[in-house]
Amino acid sequence: MSEVNKLKHVAIIMDGNGRWANGRSHARIWGHVRGSSVVSNIVEEADDLGVKALTLYAFSTENWSRPLAEVTTLFKLLKKFLLKERKRIIKNQIRFKVMGDTSRLPQDTKDLINGLESETSNFKGLKLTFAFGYGGRQEIVDAVNAFTEKNPGEKLTEDVLTKSLYNPELGDVDLLIRTGGDQRISNFLLWQMAYAELYFTETKWPDFTRKEFRQILNKVNTRERRFGQICESISLLETSSMAEKNKKILESAMGK
Ligand code: IPE
Ligand code: IPE
Ligand code: MG
Repeated sequence: MSEVNKLKHVAIIMDGNGRWANGRSHARIWGHVRGSSVVSNIVEEADDLGVKALTLYAFSTENWSRPLAEVTTLFKLLKKFLLKERKRIIKNQIRFKVMGDTSRLPQDTKDLINGLESETSNFKGLKLTFAFGYGGRQEIVDAVNAFTEKNPGEKLTEDVLTKSLYNPELGDVDLLIRTGGDQRISNFLLWQMAYAELYFTETKWPDFTRKEFRQILNKVNTRERRFGQICESISLLETSSMAEKNKKILESAMGK
């Protein structure tokens, strides 16, 4: 990318698989199969663009209530990804993690996750995290419980809660992308998204390309992020030439 990428932590809600398949008169499961093949391209592109952390929403706590056949397919696709991408993940020094409740996954898939997590734990490349069996509210509740158990009677602060999250080293989300056309965050990274830039695209996940991903990053990199402050050029103008005017405005506003 020609411009410098300032977006360190990018999170993606990979949505629209079912509608993609239904629109082609296929079963929803086909959409998940096609969608899962997009993941490695986007991981590679994120790495090329200098993103430091990429967090992908693969299965939410709410998704447990989907039909068993669909849930089982998603388990199988996770296993297939782990088997297929292991070598490439290691070659590219990607640090891989899964966050969420994986207890209901088959034992062989849990073993593959644990294996890859420990093999890559010291890698310094892209931090790739799959949110699987993940819920943002659950993560906050778990963080509060972990803290109160260790520090009975003590009060929580924002800083301490942040450090008690599943993967505090990922930091706040800079950019959330949701594919599939819906404009909501569906219980994803609620705490970490307090100041995220949001980008919603109509493209359904199986059609999402490296090119669109790159274009989104380019566009969002030009947005001004103010974090509650005012923009730098205005603040300079205010202090240099407006002081007297401001005083008068304030006086009249206060009824003086
Ligand atoms: C996203 O696609 C994948 C998961 C939630 C696991 P969906 O399955 O939600 O697809 P749509 O939104 O119904 O099209
Ligand atoms: C969010 O998509 C979860 C994932 C992409 C894994 P959903 O399709 O489950 O979200 P809702 O139900 O439309 O909010
Ligand atoms: Mg959906």
